[in-house]
Amino acid sequence: MTQASGTPDVPNLGRRQFMNLLTFGAVTGTALGALYPIVKYFIPPSSGAAGGGVTAKDALGNDVIVSEFLEEHGAGSRTLAQGLKGDPTYLVVQEDGALASYGINSICTHLGCVVPWNASENKFICPCHGSQYDATGKVVRGPAPLSLALAHADVTEDDKVVLSPWTETDFRTGENPWWA
Ligand code: FES
Repeated sequence: MTQASGTPDVPNLGRRQFMNLLTFGAVTGTALGALYPIVKYFIPPSSGAAGGGVTAKDALGNDVIVSEFLEEHGAGSRTLAQGLKGDPTYLVVQEDGALASYGINSICTHLGCVVPWNASENKFICPCHGSQYDATGKVVRGPAPLSLALAHADVTEDDKVVLSPWTETDFRTGENPWWA
């Protein structure tokens, strides 16, 4: 009696899948890439980020343009951008529709997976070992020992976002920032 051959192993995509989040835009990259020089032509050159900050970039490596970003991302959204040291960092849209003055580093404080935002649970839930963080990135369930790191997110005159190091008290815990 023959038996159907076994089903192929289901690959464990966990971490890789989420690392791919930042490159998901590649499919639409060609179209947007063609527009980029045109858009850029009309935008004055950035005066550069002050105070050790970096200009937040989208999945295609282009500067995030705040007015466009807010049209695409509604209240309560958390969206990955490239931040300090290239770390994927969430830009937060507040309930009033404005960009929050802080960004949330997406690197899990347990073993470094990129933690996705789960809108229906209103939490960040790590796919690797199940750590959970609230909507501000404060840890609410281990094994992660610490909250997600913060960065300042400031909107510039030329409609971009500068992410800069957060060295002040962590407003979520009232403690000194562990990452500074
Ligand atoms: S790396 Fe996130 S829970 Fe382990």
